[in-house]
Amino acid sequence: MTDDNRPLWLVPAEVAGSDTLPDACDDLVVGAGVVGLTTAVLLARAGRRVCVVEARYVGAGSTGHSSAKVSLLQGTRLSTLLEQHSRDVVQSYVEMNRAGFDWLVDFATAHDVRIDRRAAATFAASPNETSRARAEFVAAQSVGLPVEWSDGLDLPVHVHGAVTLADQAQVDPGSLLSALATELRAHQGVIVENARVASVDWVGPPTAHLEDGRTVRAESLVVATGSPILDRSLAFSDLEPQRSYVVGYELADPPQIMALSSGSPSVSLRDARTADGRPALLVGGFGHGVGRTEAEREHVEAIRTWTAEHFPAAREVAAWSAQDYTTGDGLPRFGRMPRGGDRIRFATGFAKWGFTNGTAAALAIAHDVLGDPMPWADSVVDHSSPLQSVKGRASINAKVAKEVATGAVRALSGSDAPLETGEGRVHREGVHVVAESRSETDTCRVSGLCTHLGGVLRWNDHEQSWDCPLHGSRFSPEGEVLNGPATKPLKRLEPSEES
Ligand SMILES: Cc1cc2nc3c(=O)[nH]c(=O)nc-3n(C[C@H](O)[C@H](O)[C@H](O)COP(=O)(O)OP(=O)(O)OC[C@H]3O[C@@H](n4cnc5c(N)ncnc54)[C@H](O)[C@@H]3O)c2cc1C
Ligand code: FES
Repeated sequence: MTDDNRPLWLVPAEVAGSDTLPDACDDLVVGAGVVGLTTAVLLARAGRRVCVVEARYVGAGSTGHSSAKVSLLQGTRLSTLLEQHSRDVVQSYVEMNRAGFDWLVDFATAHDVRIDRRAAATFAASPNETSRARAEFVAAQSVGLPVEWSDGLDLPVHVHGAVTLADQAQVDPGSLLSALATELRAHQGVIVENARVASVDWVGPPTAHLEDGRTVRAESLVVATGSPILDRSLAFSDLEPQRSYVVGYELADPPQIMALSSGSPSVSLRDARTADGRPALLVGGFGHGVGRTEAEREHVEAIRTWTAEHFPAAREVAAWSAQDYTTGDGLPRFGRMPRGGDRIRFATGFAKWGFTNGTAAALAIAHDVLGDPMPWADSVVDHSSPLQSVKGRASINAKVAKEVATGAVRALSGSDAPLETGEGRVHREGVHVVAESRSETDTCRVSGLCTHLGGVLRWNDHEQSWDCPLHGSRFSPEGEVLNGPATKPLKRLEPSEES
């Protein structure tokens, strides 16, 4: 059993690595996931001086920790979008994803990225799920995808109907990010790791301030940080952060189909290769809102139990997790950042389908910077339904408000009884909220309030981290930022000190 957050794939250190930070550049890209590196490559190929700054290392975010299916059939996404938006908008969404798909597959093929063509399937795992799968079949047909309906799949799972789409793809994201980094450097782009942007001056050409005090000036800035880090845009407030899990198993002859169940929680399957080339099965899903579950560990155990039942010969070799963001109206957000003038752009809200959506968003951003907008870029916004987006935002805000209230109660009722190893708890000391956790070697005390907007943190018992249930920031037990929108670490407290 493996509980550290290490995927089967990694970006080789000699490809990632860190270049020298320039004082100035044409385009500063913040974040080295699929969005940041693809945008950077497109701009550098056009002859611009591009710098990517990455808080941790290339692939540290969701891109390096996903299941990396590259597909236009995306679970029950098309039928869900059609419940909220016009057919034209959903058609544009498909067009955008097709553009992302084509670019990624062409790039991967030309640069020896590990990529396999596979059929994708959305299947009903119980009779209750059949109508969802059937609705997806109808929705996909209505926007022109050549889907097929079948009563079963070649899986050791009871299938109650499935929609399939041939000739989709699955990629090794470590290999993809390596190739993007190499291509960027071939066009004189630079990548600086361990460079967290703490703030940006918005007036005139943007200047980014790193947490270590260094600065970079740019003509344009692209925020590709998952949840956008710049508070002034309020972009984070329209996002629901979802954490989910993947477990990798060594398994002879894994099924060669990318399958996703249509119910909730969903189960995701694909095949892969271990680092030394042996066949593997990835089982994922079982997600939840970040910081909004009693025990993260139980979600991973649910994957293990499900796999033991359906693939008893599978031997666990890796387990990892990450988070992605869904907007109130379900559509991705990308382009010029609200209140950012023409110089700051961003991309987010891929609802766990960032390999196509994120690549397409990178295409849209780069083409906009270069003055040649993509034809579909403006249509993937539902101009006809402001009510829907208000409803979606209201639902997100209601959940945040509930977490604000329960966080206060949690802090008030937290006991100060001794912690067991692996436990963490918030409690009040006077007017202060303290987050205390216990590892095998010591007890760590940090402020229990998120440095973003003060949410009361929750202990994540699977990843041993402090997670914020408001907008999804995460911190290590010592207070280091693991996920934004927060950019500042938690204050470290001495044994008797208050926050
Ligand atoms: C478990 C899981 C499975 C998934 N499976 C699939 C799938 O099968 N198919 C699919 O299409 N999508 C999938 N997704 C979604 C997909 O992985 C994401 O949508 C996509 O990777 C997002 O890419 P990104 O570049 O926006 O973000 P990321 O890859 O998260 O990159 C953002 C980067 O920004 C950096 N950063 C953050 N803050 C700062 C800062 N202040 N300064 C500098 N750098 C900063 C981070 O360290 C990170 O490296 C999955 C997601 C999850 C969680
Ligand atoms: S992430 Fe916004 S308050 Fe914590």
